[in-house]
Amino acid sequence: MILVFGSINIDLVARVTSIPLPGETVLSPGYETLFGGKGANQAIAAARVSSLGRVAITACVGNDVFGRSARENLIHNGVVADFVANSTEPTGCAFITVDERGENAITVASGANASLTEARLIGFEADNSTVAVFQMEVPFQASLRVAQHVRAAGGRIIWNLAPAPPQFPARDLSHLIGSTDILIVNEHEAIVAARILGCETTDFEVAGSYLAESGCICIVTAGARGAFAFHPDGRCETVEAERIQPVDTTGAGDTFVGILANGIDEALSFRTAVKRACRGASLACLAHGAQAGMPTREQLSRAS
Ligand code: RIB
Ligand code: NA
Repeated sequence: MILVFGSINIDLVARVTSIPLPGETVLSPGYETLFGGKGANQAIAAARVSSLGRVAITACVGNDVFGRSARENLIHNGVVADFVANSTEPTGCAFITVDERGENAITVASGANASLTEARLIGFEADNSTVAVFQMEVPFQASLRVAQHVRAAGGRIIWNLAPAPPQFPARDLSHLIGSTDILIVNEHEAIVAARILGCETTDFEVAGSYLAESGCICIVTAGARGAFAFHPDGRCETVEAERIQPVDTTGAGDTFVGILANGIDEALSFRTAVKRACRGASLACLAHGAQAGMPTREQLSRAS
């Protein structure tokens, strides 16, 4: 079982010529209301390539229309959503602008995601998880407790340090890394995380190998440059990205994480799991929104 402990958002997406700078206003012809949230995206990316009933999410939504439709969307995509709780806060909402090159800027209003706790979970799904997946859009201490619980029961931990919290205490980051088997970051997140731990660098390769030295595998997803997997013993494996013309990179990182979780759950070789995750992330960039481009198992193998 793959357990995703994380966020659910509704994404309000406006397409713009260029992303506004502070103080600037830009016009967009309209906006779309789409399903998102890093937790939900990763669960759906995993579910699309996994056997039915193999992926579950623990999350919190509001008692509102957004929450109800987000829950239905998860179920529709084959994610077990029995542990999606209702909060008195509104469903999380992400305000996203996407420019002509497919790059984005995102503001997340956490809402119900901030009320997620581990209370109802521990001792149930956590005990049956081969892999548990975490990100940074829900309360950290709750995530850490679930991770430690799953690990003690023999499960593997994948932690996507996204979004990178610049003010995150070094002590918490050390605990996070100490409870993680595979840390997944983008270039920026790698540099932020290394800096928190006292390594000042602007080079993501230096940052990635520094993070791996603490004892976990650190995968840096580097967009068009592919993925770099740094191992604690100093080895670095690289996987090239496919050449594509991105339409919208939103959700690419989440697709990588979800498909990697499936590969680990199916006990594929590490390199094969990373290659599939890379390929899936590229495919995800070819459609608008976070979830539309996430491949099914069939599409993933066809693309190889
Ligand atoms: O990673 C993409 C996601 O980040 C979006 O779906 C948005 O909800 C934000 O959480
Ligand atoms: Na996309």
